[in-house]
Amino acid sequence: MKAQVCRNFGSIENLNYLDTPDPTPKNDEILIKVRAIGVNFADSLLIQGKYQASPPLPFVPGTEASGEIIALGTNCKKYKVGDRVYGYNQAFGAFAEKVVFKEKIVSRLPENLSFDEGAALLAATGTAHHALRQKANLKENETLVVLGAAGGTGSAAVQIGKAIGARVIAACSSDSKLDFAKSLGADECINYSNEDLRTSIRNLTNGKGADVIYDTIGGDAFDASTRAITWNGRLLVVGFASGRIPQFPVNLALVKGFSIVGVFWGTFIEAEPELYENNRIELQQWLANDIVKPKVNQRFHLENCVDALKYISNRKVLGKVVLNP
Ligand SMILES: NC(=O)c1ccc[n+]([C@@H]2O[C@H](COP(=O)([O-])OP(=O)(O)OC[C@H]3O[C@@H](n4cnc5c(N)ncnc54)[C@H](OP(=O)(O)O)[C@@H]3O)[C@@H](O)[C@H]2O)c1
Repeated sequence: MKAQVCRNFGSIENLNYLDTPDPTPKNDEILIKVRAIGVNFADSLLIQGKYQASPPLPFVPGTEASGEIIALGTNCKKYKVGDRVYGYNQAFGAFAEKVVFKEKIVSRLPENLSFDEGAALLAATGTAHHALRQKANLKENETLVVLGAAGGTGSAAVQIGKAIGARVIAACSSDSKLDFAKSLGADECINYSNEDLRTSIRNLTNGKGADVIYDTIGGDAFDASTRAITWNGRLLVVGFASGRIPQFPVNLALVKGFSIVGVFWGTFIEAEPELYENNRIELQQWLANDIVKPKVNQRFHLENCVDALKYISNRKVLGKVVLNP
């Protein structure tokens, strides 16, 4: 099969599009003929050696894909060959024509979703779902601010925030990104290229501050968020797309009585499988009813994976980018 192979950590340009051996499913794994692959901000970090995990070289990057099942491990009983599914592999391997997933992290692709939409789902939507349900315990009528609201996981947080019944304030760097966030259901908008984030959040909450802030950006946006969150608020640390991991004076959390809550979906699905299964079931219901729907903004051929990664790191994405083999 063809796959994108990373032989050395460094520039994303170093990826090689090569013939590689097909993966073989272990007993608890399913082999998929890939129809679409989700591309994430973190894929570039991994290839550059800047991610939390560093797989042994060489490796095939990519974590999420959709397609048809072509083989099943001996312990896999839930699906059959030919089923349309989507899944996630923590050990990577998805930038390829075939990939293996553990059966427990595979879901049936709902009828109303395309392969592209299925591939765009798990990392972004799973993270937002876990963050807002388990980490923030977001409640109906609370105010949720989503930073980077037009990005992959930001756009999912807007949709899930609305599904839970929160009032959602989208914050982005351009009006066109804010229009996109509004189309997903955001109630209010902040353009942090020309507005002061802290002041705007306070103004939109009558001076009270947000109940929950979903921070995918870090840096200055995180700093502003610590000054714009209410008593008992939850500031969710999701990512650092700005490139700066913020330092935080903890006395602020004490004085203002809010929590800083770390979110790491990849560890959550392994560490808390029962809760993950609850989320999986809830997400399948939201998907079947069009309450949550991933928005695919750009498609690239698998061969042009580097262009897809650049599209994301150049801050162009609205929703998600997928690769098609
Ligand atoms: N903790 C977890 O489990 C988990 C899971 C998924 C993702 N993440 C992390 O969450 C972050 C966002 O991921 P994503 O897949 O949603 O990425 P994405 O689709 O590229 O969205 C990131 C957003 O960040 C904003 N941004 C601000 N400064 C940026 C910069 N210098 N370069 C690029 N974007 C910048 C952009 O929005 P504006 O232009 O509107 O500012 C962009 O839309 C990443 O750091 C990723 O690693 C963490």
